[in-house]
Amino acid sequence: METNSRRGTLKKSVTFMEALALVIGMIIGSGIFLKPGIVLGHAGTPGMGILAWAAGGVITLAAALSVAEIAAAIPKSGGLYTYLGELYGGVFGFLLGWVQTIISYPASVAALCIAFATYSGYFLPMSDGQQTWLAIGILAFILLMNVLSTKNGGIIQTIATAGKLIPVIGIVGFGLAAGAAPGFAGIPASAAAASGSGFGAAILGTLWAYDGWIGVTNMAGEIGNPAKTLPRVISAGVLFVIAVYVLFNVAIYRSLPYEAIVNSPTPGADAAQALFGNGGGAFITAGIIVSILGALNGYLMTAARVPQSMGANGQLPFSRTLARLHPKFQTPANALLLQSVLAVIYILSGTFNTLTDLLVFVLWIFFTMGVFGVFLLRKKTPPRPGRYRVPLYPLTPLIGMAGGVYILASTILNDPIRSLTGIGITLLGLPVYYLMQRKSKKTG
Ligand code: ARG
Repeated sequence: METNSRRGTLKKSVTFMEALALVIGMIIGSGIFLKPGIVLGHAGTPGMGILAWAAGGVITLAAALSVAEIAAAIPKSGGLYTYLGELYGGVFGFLLGWVQTIISYPASVAALCIAFATYSGYFLPMSDGQQTWLAIGILAFILLMNVLSTKNGGIIQTIATAGKLIPVIGIVGFGLAAGAAPGFAGIPASAAAASGSGFGAAILGTLWAYDGWIGVTNMAGEIGNPAKTLPRVISAGVLFVIAVYVLFNVAIYRSLPYEAIVNSPTPGADAAQALFGNGGGAFITAGIIVSILGALNGYLMTAARVPQSMGANGQLPFSRTLARLHPKFQTPANALLLQSVLAVIYILSGTFNTLTDLLVFVLWIFFTMGVFGVFLLRKKTPPRPGRYRVPLYPLTPLIGMAGGVYILASTILNDPIRSLTGIGITLLGLPVYYLMQRKSKKTG
């Protein structure tokens, strides 16, 4: 991933395995350890819970395979931002960048800070107020590391990626082999009755855990033969994660009684405790914290790159300031600071589950547009032989779009205020876009 500084172009240095590791590493973060309880609670029964995890995976896979066709046809860096720009017009690319800057990245960072503080409670019991302070404190620390040097960020990332597979493999392996909880059998009748009513909310809960697959498309310019490699790493990566998540939940259901899963804010830690006792539980929980820390660092690092490059293109207010690198450390310090300030606001204003639902909602507005983009793409440029095509066309993109519409509609119905706020902030990007364009015409 080095840059070829003399020509200013990025080297094609990312291999298949590295790209696959990137897909898996960007998806697996906090959700798998924090969402099993709420998903099971909404779904009602363990069977429906597993179905929700599978359904979230299928929707994600259908959308990802469709977007992969676009990625293969438009092998340029910039990911969805570039694709929406080419297929729908520049303003849609801008709106995605805007939403990423104002909501999606800072709210992700905020949710991950809260996740970090919640899991730290395993070692160090805290009040809610203290947890909020710890969430802000860890953000300040990661911000500082990233301002001081991009290398620090890279080191944290490598350790965390290695660390995150330990709790996943540990819980899946031992939970499946040794779990003895009543699990599937011991469901209270009251819970079974609730089944179905909250199935949409259950799927929504899983989508946070599945999100992150699109990140690899940002790197298209640096991957050798992206038209072939991208669809392969995206499908292999998402399929792998679906398998892991389904098995992980089966393992949790076998390790803990129903009520304990539903009522726990930290089901991953509780399952580890039940399986391995205090020492092992502490070890696995430490791994979970490292995994969350890695995701947090990765998302803050990536988050800053969006306003930084939009600033460099003169597309945002205070563009020059946002684009500027720190004079001594050469890091996008101002953009990092902007993202952190917004994240603090989100930490103070929401909980982990409300923030993740808001974020999944706004992101899926754009994912749904991206999936529909396959139809536009095929109209514009009929697929050449040899180019990657989404399997089972048009069924796969239709599943992706149906999933998207279902997510959007059920969020609007369940939480109109929050979703309208999300839509409002998104549309606020429009006046900004036109104002900035007028300004650049005047000066340019
Ligand atoms: N899947 C990740 C997790 O479970 C979160 C992804 C956040 N996505 C985003 N676009 N910020 O922690």
